[in-house]
Amino acid sequence: MRHLLSTQDLSRDDAILILDTAGQMAATQEREVRKLPTLRGKTVVNLFFEDSTRTRISFEAAAKRLSADVINFSAKGSSVSKGESLKDTALTLQAMGADAVVVRHWASGAAYQLAHGGWLHGSVLNAGDGTHQHPTQALLDAFTMRRHLVGSPEGAGLDGLTVAIVGDVLHSRVARSNVQLLHTLGAKVVLVAPPTLVPVGIARWPCDVVHTLDEAIEGYDIDALMMLRVQRERMTGGGSAFFPSPEEYTRLFGLDGDRLGRLPEHAIVMHPGPMNRGLEISAEAADSPRSVIVEQVGNGVAVRMAALYLLLAGEEGAQ
Ligand code: NCD
Repeated sequence: MRHLLSTQDLSRDDAILILDTAGQMAATQEREVRKLPTLRGKTVVNLFFEDSTRTRISFEAAAKRLSADVINFSAKGSSVSKGESLKDTALTLQAMGADAVVVRHWASGAAYQLAHGGWLHGSVLNAGDGTHQHPTQALLDAFTMRRHLVGSPEGAGLDGLTVAIVGDVLHSRVARSNVQLLHTLGAKVVLVAPPTLVPVGIARWPCDVVHTLDEAIEGYDIDALMMLRVQRERMTGGGSAFFPSPEEYTRLFGLDGDRLGRLPEHAIVMHPGPMNRGLEISAEAADSPRSVIVEQVGNGVAVRMAALYLLLAGEEGAQ
């Protein structure tokens, strides 16, 4: 594989190879000297057209821990039209000798266009395109679930686990990437959202759908509960009509201490960040011992190291 654009492109073996490699990368990060020489001489460009804290820093840390040279290019605010700006930017990056481009863009399909536009010779890693895909987030989520919920993770999938993904599914590339990957890895997925935040065509997704969080907690034996951010910046056009009020949203879809207490004892709580504390998740739930939210961020570095390594470290790593 040359690019990492969508979890849809990953076979079960591909996904498990990335997770196993991430496990090895995580082990190297416990040593005193955490830097590996693997990508010495390679150039990784972080091309961000949209805001990001975790993903951008994590890709930068991952590339640096592998000894690559890193160029950060924040293209936010560019007034050039989308197609032209992407093409011109790609040609510039090509001229600079980018071996990998990590791209986040507000338009769904931008990463695919960059990979297949014929402008770049290097690998493209999708760090989030519009509401479409965010494959490294789904991989770090799977890595986190595997660590906590599967006895001896190496070589294993997520067979038999039940994962509930709650909230603004409509605007969430995290949900789309996760549903696909979790299905590939053998987990059962239940989406929990108001009808207004469920995408058209959901019946074809490999998952169940319910319309209140209580229904999911009562009806399923949940192993991992993934809360999604309410993406107010993408709620354009429909005005504020996606739900009646923030209080109403919290009442039906928010995770609080009471709902947390009704989950199976071993269940973990996840969130990709950034959190709207008090809206989709209470402080009590976010900071509880069952929350693995901070750990997800740490695991992101290991997973992105694995992805960069497998795409860039020579022929044997790139199959
Ligand atoms: C997510 C994203 O940008 O898609 N955040 C992240 O990458 N950690 C989710 C979100 O913004 O809600």
